[in-house]
Amino acid sequence: MKILVINGPNINMLGMREPNVYGSDSYVDLLDYIQNVAVEEGVSVECVQSNHEGDLVDWIQKTPGVYDGIVINPAAYTHTSIAILDALKAVPVLAVEVHISDVSKREDFRQISYAGMACVKTYMGLGFAGYREAIRFLKERA
Ligand code: DQA
Repeated sequence: MKILVINGPNINMLGMREPNVYGSDSYVDLLDYIQNVAVEEGVSVECVQSNHEGDLVDWIQKTPGVYDGIVINPAAYTHTSIAILDALKAVPVLAVEVHISDVSKREDFRQISYAGMACVKTYMGLGFAGYREAIRFLKERA
């Protein structure tokens, strides 16, 4: 099984950005964490990150026939991007939404998730463990 993990803007700034919200571990730590989960679960996982909305759309569009599932944290684009929602709806690949923080307990503008409307499951507020749960969920669904 092959899973693509897509992270959106500012996820590369983990460790430095708002550690009280996102913790003190870096994006490289997140990559290490995900690869350990991949080994434990016996799945192949590739990770990509971009600060640019169109990159996320391009990666989603290229998943059919290559990946069996998508784990996506669109970061701030969660709350704004109909383009990412449409891309997720355009491909027959199961997607799971992850947020490191518990967005349900944050500002009003974070209460809508466009991407989430095309995802089969959402994990939020679990820190890095949300990615593990998303990978496990996709593995069980496969
Ligand atoms: C986030 C939550 C978003 O609201 C925010 O814009 C992010 C990160 C999270 O992982 O908790 O950049 O997706």
